[in-house]
Amino acid sequence: VIEEIVPGCVCAREAFEDPGGGGHELLYPEEAEVIARSVPKRQREFTTVRLCARGALEELGYPPQPLLPGRRGAPGWPEGVVGSMTHCAGYRAAVVARARDVVSAGIDAEPNEPLPDGVLKSISLPVERKRLAALRAGAPRVWWDRLLFSAKESVFKTWYPLTGSELGFEEAEIEPDPDAGTFSARLLVPGPMVEGRRVEVFSGRWLTRNGLVVTAIVHQRARG
Ligand SMILES: CC(C)(COP(=O)(O)OP(=O)(O)OC[C@H]1O[C@@H](n2cnc3c(N)ncnc32)[C@H](O)[C@@H]1OP(=O)(O)O)[C@@H](O)C(=O)NCCC(=O)NCCS
Repeated sequence: VIEEIVPGCVCAREAFEDPGGGGHELLYPEEAEVIARSVPKRQREFTTVRLCARGALEELGYPPQPLLPGRRGAPGWPEGVVGSMTHCAGYRAAVVARARDVVSAGIDAEPNEPLPDGVLKSISLPVERKRLAALRAGAPRVWWDRLLFSAKESVFKTWYPLTGSELGFEEAEIEPDPDAGTFSARLLVPGPMVEGRRVEVFSGRWLTRNGLVVTAIVHQRARG
C-alpha cells in the first residue's frame, strides 16, 4: 500500500499483523525499555513498526540498530537517513530514504471511517470543510474528513524534524485532488528554509485500500 504513494528513492515496509506473541524479544533492550510499562496494544505497534523500519533500512543498506523515539516522539534515524513511521488498527508502515535525496518525510495511516463526532471542526479550517461536500459527491467511498486528518498528521511528521516546533491543525491548509490521488498542504505560517528557499507547500499523495486511508509526504531535494 505505502509503496504505491512514495517515490522510488524511498524504501518502504508494511505489516498487516504483528508477529505471534507480539515479537517483543525482537526489540533491542533500549527499545524494550521505552515500552516496558505500556499497554499491550502500544507494545505491539511499537515493535512491529520497528521491524518494518529495520527491513526498510536494510534495503537502503543500513545494518539493524535500535530506533528510539527522540524529542516529542520523533524517531531517531541513523545519520544520513530520514524517514517516518505510522500505525493504526491492522496496519503498520515505515519509510526511509537517504538524506541526500529527501529532506523530510511523513506518512500516516487511518481507518477509512468517519472521524468521531466533533473532531472535524477541531482539525479543519472552514475552507477545508467547504470542499468536503464536493469531494464526497465525486468519491463517496473515501471518508474525506479522515483523509484531511491523516494528511495533517503526515504534514506534522514532515514538519517537525525540520523545525523542532509545533504546528497547529489550523496552520496548514489541505487541498486534496480526488482524481490524481494527490494533495497539497499549504503552510499558513512561515515554513522551514530548505536549500536557501522557504517551503510554502508540501505535496503529498493519498490512497484508500483495505479499509485504510494512507497519506504520504516525501519532500525531495531539488536536483541540478
Ligand atoms: C505525533 C503525531 C503526529 C502522531 O500521529 P498519530 O496519528 O497519533 O500516530 P501514528 O501511529 O500515525 O504515528 C506514530 C508515529 O509517529 C512518529 N512520530 C511521533 N512524534 C513525531 C514527531 N514529533 N515528528 C515526527 N514523527 C513523529 C513516531 O514514529 C510514532 O511511532 P512510535 O511512537 O512507535 O515511534 C500526533 O500524535 C500529534 O501529535 N498530532 C498533533 C500535531 C498535528 O498533527 N498538527 C497538525 C499539523 S497540520
